Amino acid sequence: MHRMETINRKTWENAWSIREYSRSEGFLDEGERAAFDHATTQGGRRILDIGIGGGRTAGLLADGRDYTGIDYTAGMVERARANHPTLRFEHMDARDLSAFPDASFDLVVFSFNGIDSVDPDGRVRVLEEVSRVLSPGGRFVFSTFHKDWQGFNALPDYRRVEWTMDPLRLGFRLYRYVEGGILKAIRLRKHRTLEVHAEDHAILMHGAHDFGIMVHATTRQHLLDQLGQAGFAGDPLLIDRDGLVLGHQWPSSLHFLYVVAQKPLQN
Ligand SMILES: C[S@@+](CC[C@H](N)C(=O)[O-])C[C@H]1O[C@@H](n2cnc3c(N)ncnc32)[C@H](O)[C@@H]1O
Repeated sequence: MHRMETINRKTWENAWSIREYSRSEGFLDEGERAAFDHATTQGGRRILDIGIGGGRTAGLLADGRDYTGIDYTAGMVERARANHPTLRFEHMDARDLSAFPDASFDLVVFSFNGIDSVDPDGRVRVLEEVSRVLSPGGRFVFSTFHKDWQGFNALPDYRRVEWTMDPLRLGFRLYRYVEGGILKAIRLRKHRTLEVHAEDHAILMHGAHDFGIMVHATTRQHLLDQLGQAGFAGDPLLIDRDGLVLGHQWPSSLHFLYVVAQKPLQN
C-alpha cells in the first residue's frame, strides 16, 4: 500500500474524524453550492456520492433523486446511515466500482477534496471508474487542491486554547491542544520526507487533521490531462471557492477549486 494511503486511512478511521464529519452539514462555501447547483440543474436523477463521510452531501444532493453514497471507511458509512436512515449507503472503495454497470449514473460527486487523499495510481483509477459508470453527457463534480497555494509553504498554525470557566472543559481543551500539537509536529517531521514536488503536480502534507493527511495537489494542465485520459470532455467548468469561474492563471491564494467535468455526449 502507498505510504500516503496508510497515513490517510489512519486519519479517516480515527474516532475524532468520524465525529467531526458526522456533525458537519450544509455547503462548504459558495463554490461548492455553485458546482452542485450547476450539475443538478443540468439533469442527474441517478447520483453516486463518493467519500460521503458522515453524509453531509447526502442532505444536499438526495432530494427525491435516486441516490447512492459510498465510503471506504466503515465507521463513516455507519454514521451516514444513522444520519440519513432512508438513503442507500455502501461500504466501497472508489477505485473499484465494479458493483455498478457502465453508464449507471448521471451525476457522480467526490466532495471536500476526498479524491486528493487517494494515492497517485488510485487517483487515475478513480477517474477511469467514474468515467465508466457515468452515462454519456453525465457529470463528475469534485474539488481538488491547487499545487501553488501559498499555504502549503506556511509554517504550522498552532491553534489557541479557548478559555472557559468550566475546569473539566478547560482540562479537555488543554489535553487536545498538547496532544494535537505534539502529534502535529511529529507527523510533519516524519512525513515531509515523503513529499513529491513535480513540475505539474505535488504530493504534500496538509495541515488538516493536525497534519494527518497527505494530499495530491494539481495544476490546470495536469488536471486537464488526467481528465482527458480518463475520457472526459476537454472543457471542464472550474470554479473558485467564491463561486466564480476560474481563468487560465490560478492565483497563489487559491487553496482548492471545484471541477464540473462532463462525459462526452457520444463515445
Ligand atoms: C475529507 S473527507 C470528506 C467527507 C464528506 N464528503 C464531507 O464533505 O463532509 C473524505 C472522505 O473520503 C473517504 N475516502 C477517501 N478515499 C476513498 C476511496 N478511495 N473510496 C471511498 N471513499 C474514500 C474517506 O473515508 C472520508 O470519509
